[in-house]
Amino acid sequence: MTKHLLSLWDFTREELTGYLNLAATLKQESKNNVRHQQLAGKTIALVFEKPSTRTRVSFESAMYGLGGQVIYLSGRDTQLARNEPLKDMARVMARYVNGLVIRTYGQEIVDELARYSSVPVINALTDLHHPCQILSDIQTVIEKKGAVDKLHIAWIGDGNNMANSWIQAASRLGFALTLACPEGYDPDPEILAKARAEAARPITVVRDPAAAVADADVINTDVWASMGQEEEQEKRIKVFQPYQVNGGLLAKAKAGAIVLHCLPAHRDEEITDEVLEGSQCVAWDQAENKLHIHKAILLTHLG
Ligand code: CP
Ligand code: NVA
Repeated sequence: MTKHLLSLWDFTREELTGYLNLAATLKQESKNNVRHQQLAGKTIALVFEKPSTRTRVSFESAMYGLGGQVIYLSGRDTQLARNEPLKDMARVMARYVNGLVIRTYGQEIVDELARYSSVPVINALTDLHHPCQILSDIQTVIEKKGAVDKLHIAWIGDGNNMANSWIQAASRLGFALTLACPEGYDPDPEILAKARAEAARPITVVRDPAAAVADADVINTDVWASMGQEEEQEKRIKVFQPYQVNGGLLAKAKAGAIVLHCLPAHRDEEITDEVLEGSQCVAWDQAENKLHIHKAILLTHLG
């Protein structure tokens, strides 16, 4: 059966651990100059309806690094821009390529493509989820802290696609998660309810960022206005001001806490330049790990 990656709900704890272990092995092998060719003769299409630096380049580099080929299409290059039905696009693309990596707006778009696609569909960000990103983030946490399940992770800021995927990961992987979000900007309530029903440790939403980072091993943030919310930027800057990750907030976490940011960052909005450039921030290793986790994803789904 075709195995898609639409959200982290699609996977058990063992499957998520499988991606993480495989990514760690591939990273070590690539540092040792091992050449991979497992996807030679295979092609993926990247269909991106939103901008991307990291996800696009790391998926492309991952596929080439496994011996495969990539076709990149921006949304406006395809007949989707002229309202071709998704179910037609999905069935046609599956005749040409071995996998589809999609970045788009509504989660229903990737779900619909997956329903009709006989090749794997991989979610490279929707308004609701950013599952591949959270896997590379957790790979980074494991590298720095040894394991993730005993940790307390704090999310500061918007209850957005990243927050939703972190909630799913907490429920499947067993770490404690506290999210500090302003009123009106909470994570998706259905995801939260399902995650809490399954979770071994607390998943809590608070209003006070200081309460969220107390005893935190990991502090995580993201832009205040995500792609597609540009017109809300000014209003959000006012609402989110108390949610900035700065030196004062970092001092309230555990000594040695690490700071994650999926990037791109808006310096001195959600995170100060000082913290982003500081010794506790691991955003650059986190960005590198997108390459290794994307290799693991491509091998698992297309190999
Ligand atoms: N973190 C992330 O997804 O970055 P891009 O938008 O550059 O792909
Ligand atoms: N929440 C951000 C993540 C960017 C990688 C967005 O959707 O724009």
